[in-house]
Amino acid sequence: MVISLSPIMLMFLFGLVGIGTVSVLLLLLITIWRSDGDILLMYAAKFGKSIDSLAGKVVWITGASSGIGENIAYWLAKAGCKIVLTARPTDMDDLERVKERCLEIGNNSEEDILILPLDVTEFDKHRSAVQQVLQYFGKIDVLINNAGKSQRAAWHEVELDVDRELFDVNVLGPVSLTQEVLPHMIQRKQGHVVVTSSLAGKLGSPNSRSYTGAKLAVAGYFECLRTEISKHNIDITVICPGPTFSNILFEAATGKPGETMGRRMSRSEKRMPTDRCAYLYCVAIANKLSEAWISQHPILTTAYIAQYLPDISRWLWKNYGMKSMEKMREGK
Ligand SMILES: NC(=O)c1ccc[n+]([C@@H]2O[C@H](COP(=O)([O-])OP(=O)(O)OC[C@H]3O[C@@H](n4cnc5c(N)ncnc54)[C@H](OP(=O)(O)O)[C@@H]3O)[C@@H](O)[C@H]2O)c1
Repeated sequence: MVISLSPIMLMFLFGLVGIGTVSVLLLLLITIWRSDGDILLMYAAKFGKSIDSLAGKVVWITGASSGIGENIAYWLAKAGCKIVLTARPTDMDDLERVKERCLEIGNNSEEDILILPLDVTEFDKHRSAVQQVLQYFGKIDVLINNAGKSQRAAWHEVELDVDRELFDVNVLGPVSLTQEVLPHMIQRKQGHVVVTSSLAGKLGSPNSRSYTGAKLAVAGYFECLRTEISKHNIDITVICPGPTFSNILFEAATGKPGETMGRRMSRSEKRMPTDRCAYLYCVAIANKLSEAWISQHPILTTAYIAQYLPDISRWLWKNYGMKSMEKMREGK
């Protein structure tokens, strides 16, 4: 049977399809604009597994003494995870404080939380640290490589020693620790390795060449690992936060070795609340997302443009850019 449509009917049908497409696109844009994470992460937060699905897992968090790592510990404690809290040995008081708070708000007991001081740049100590965790808990389900250090300095003023230092903490620390944990995960045929990268790496953020380079590099290392390790049933998650409240600018490097910025963030700055960032971080873990972006706009919008329209993004930065990028990163 042949159905013949009059030109008016055809125009009507095309019109309907057009309106439908435009409506879907508009809805998508509104959804993106109202979100503080990428679309898949937002979907997982609404319809995916809850953080409680991680109950009973042994999760090792580096960089747990403040900021994002500290707040991840609180969400995981509430979910009933067994937690290893790691930061440099200089900050034992902070780790004790985080442990106390985990016990206050969490669903776990004293022996479910292990404090393990470790400087992630002391690579020769990684093997024995892994053994310590295994002796204590018998397994490691999730390793969260979150310890990190940022930077503010003009490109031409950065000394190579600063590049080395930031690569040690942001790249080689996670790489080395993961390398020591993997044999255990491979033997168990399960495991999950998470690393905190940054949207700075995606955006070519100015005034932090060592940090921007390191965060892009660490994502590359773990993309490579993801491809190799999937046959062992081991998941990799790369988390890219945007500007978030934490101590990161206090400890941030400059261009000179040994110098730090020493800047405290003010509450009036436009940044992601730490607790919300950590919540979405844990949602990404619970749902084993490959990559998750956590940020408010306009940084989130710029990340979409950089990812999907890279040349337009570069053109925009070149013509309108650096000042606005600096403002956005400084929470203004
Ligand atoms: N806040 C942001 O805007 C933002 C944006 C994108 C990505 N990130 C990333 O998020 C992660 C967490 O940072 P944050 O914002 O929460 O900053 P933060 O409050 O300064 O926390 C950094 C954590 O890393 C630890 N750490 C630093 N150097 C270490 C080392 N050598 N060995 C072991 N631990 C070390 C610090 O502990 P101790 O100093 O006590 O050792 C602290 O617990 C970092 O990887 C950072 O690059 C942050």
